[in-house]
Amino acid sequence: PPLYIITPTYPRAEQIPELTRTAQTLMNVPNVVWIVSEDAPVPTQAVVNYLNETGLKTVYRRVMMPAKYQKVKNKPRGVANRLSGLEYIRENAKDGVFYFADDDNTYDIKLFEQMRWTQRVSMFPVGLVTKLGVSSPIVRDGRVVGFYDGWISKRRFPCDMAGFAVSVQYFLERPKATMPFKVGFEEDGFLRSLGIKPHEIEPLAFNCTKIWVWHTQTKKNQPALPVVQNKMTVGTNLDILK
Ligand code: UGA
Ligand code: MN
Repeated sequence: PPLYIITPTYPRAEQIPELTRTAQTLMNVPNVVWIVSEDAPVPTQAVVNYLNETGLKTVYRRVMMPAKYQKVKNKPRGVANRLSGLEYIRENAKDGVFYFADDDNTYDIKLFEQMRWTQRVSMFPVGLVTKLGVSSPIVRDGRVVGFYDGWISKRRFPCDMAGFAVSVQYFLERPKATMPFKVGFEEDGFLRSLGIKPHEIEPLAFNCTKIWVWHTQTKKNQPALPVVQNKMTVGTNLDILK
């Protein structure tokens, strides 16, 4: 059965570099359907072209963050596009496992091999996230008994979006399961809506002792000033043959 990877993405200069890293990771994983869901007013042609070039089995989706959330400072990033990916799963998938993989994280392929066998919901540590540097389930005798996370708040499942995978069948059996547009509570809201009990969670990565996914993000380049860009001679060297 396939592994569905749902990747939210949005247009910016780093988009193709981030998608290249993610794609070339997924090229090393068998039987993957890569659902790339773009938050954009129109499809980014470079993305559509690149997806076709990868040779991966890809599904391109496009949605936009609802206007009311675009206005606020702290946005529910990637929610509209993840929901669109979930819609694809509801309409097209019947078995396998899905995972929310942001375009900018770094993934060890061992993670994908293990999550493939998820029966309900599996969980694992995520590195380079929050002030504690790692977010992870706490495992005792093979059972998840709590969470270690820099922001526990009122969350029952204080984890990161990259820290869990879900069985497609389990999800399909729960037609109301959905992700809320609630900043900080996207993961918790989604996991609660699945009705998963903590003792049912399957800890991966050797009882959560290994970090196989990290929060990373490509650093923004300081763009040249438009006035400089327009002077075609600035930043060139055309006298080398003289
Ligand atoms: C963290 C979590 O890892 C995300 O899963 C979560 O959605 C996010 O916080 C949040 O709650 O805002 P972080 O690295 O802080 O992620 O955020 P980004 O990497 O900037 O965005 C998360 C995902 O949403 C990325 O795949 C990004 O491409 C996408 N995104 C971001 C959009 O689709 N639209 C946007 O306007 C911004
Ligand atoms: Mn990120």
